[in-house]
Amino acid sequence: MTIDSGFNHITVLLNEAVEALSVRADGCYLDGTFGRGGHSRLILQNLGPDGRLLGFDKDPQAIATGQALAAEDGRFVVVQRSFAELGAEVAERGLAGKVSGVLFDLGVSSPQLDDPERGFSFLNDGPLDMRMDPSRGVSAAEFIATAPEEEIARVFKEYGEERFAKRMARAVVLRREQQPFTRTADLAEVLKVANPAWEKGKNPATRAFQGLRIHVNNELGDLETGLEAALDALEVGGRLAVISFHSLEDRIVKLFMRKLAKGEQDNLPRNLPVQYKPFEPRIRLIGKAQFASEAELKANPRSRSAVMRVAEKLR
Ligand SMILES: C[S@@+](CC[C@H](N)C(=O)[O-])C[C@H]1O[C@@H](n2cnc3c(N)ncnc32)[C@H](O)[C@@H]1O
Repeated sequence: MTIDSGFNHITVLLNEAVEALSVRADGCYLDGTFGRGGHSRLILQNLGPDGRLLGFDKDPQAIATGQALAAEDGRFVVVQRSFAELGAEVAERGLAGKVSGVLFDLGVSSPQLDDPERGFSFLNDGPLDMRMDPSRGVSAAEFIATAPEEEIARVFKEYGEERFAKRMARAVVLRREQQPFTRTADLAEVLKVANPAWEKGKNPATRAFQGLRIHVNNELGDLETGLEAALDALEVGGRLAVISFHSLEDRIVKLFMRKLAKGEQDNLPRNLPVQYKPFEPRIRLIGKAQFASEAELKANPRSRSAVMRVAEKLR
């Protein structure tokens, strides 16, 4: 496999994220979403000879780039694993509770979106795959071929926030009975015809494609597990920085951080005799949600939807 596929990724919130980690020269850091290593390289620049960085990615092309970096820099190691399995990886390396900082820069990279062969794109035709790790799990084509209509509608609605999810799922199921879907452009065309209200400036298949991608890669489930695992992996005083690209991700991050910094949401019925237990925060929030600067927005339109939240472990 070639390391450079010719598709580049511009790192979002590069300086902001690495600053948020407050890198200590001899610290041990985890980059849960190595991608093309933009954040990892800047973390390495801030580390001294005794510092360590462990990178994770599911994607074989990201891993190839990571292995090339690891060959040049002995302080860096990369593993092809989901960050949801970070707890096991850290335990195997004897690092549980010793990590100084964890970064998640969520979602897909530009090379994944731009390379039609990866099957994420409704604009450029390719095989209907969408897996970050194509060697594991169920591709988008297999899901679309076998899932019940209600499940397809749920994925479009819950993960794509598509208003016309039911109609679109119906159209997909009617068509698959005639001929299975194998290509992204074919699916995009059927979704486009089934969508009665096109949003200005947005391809009518955008939301359904987002839903499929999130489902195929278990993105929200991985995030929930990964956040818990990251917190356990951190030492007291260690930092967690998470960059999200859509409201579903950001909501999970925001609620996770709020719960641990400010206490459980009080959703118990009123007048219930509950024993009062003082809340002891596990983390403190560092600053408010951060967004890309004007200059970054100009240089990289993909940064438009980025939101970063940062926390520090207290106990
Ligand atoms: C937005 S890109 C990260 C870009 C990276 N920060 C850089 O500067 O090059 C997200 C990357 O995370 C990977 N990824 C997404 N979810 C993952 C997960 N649960 N576990 C491991 N890698 C994941 C994707 O394959 C992709 O390469």
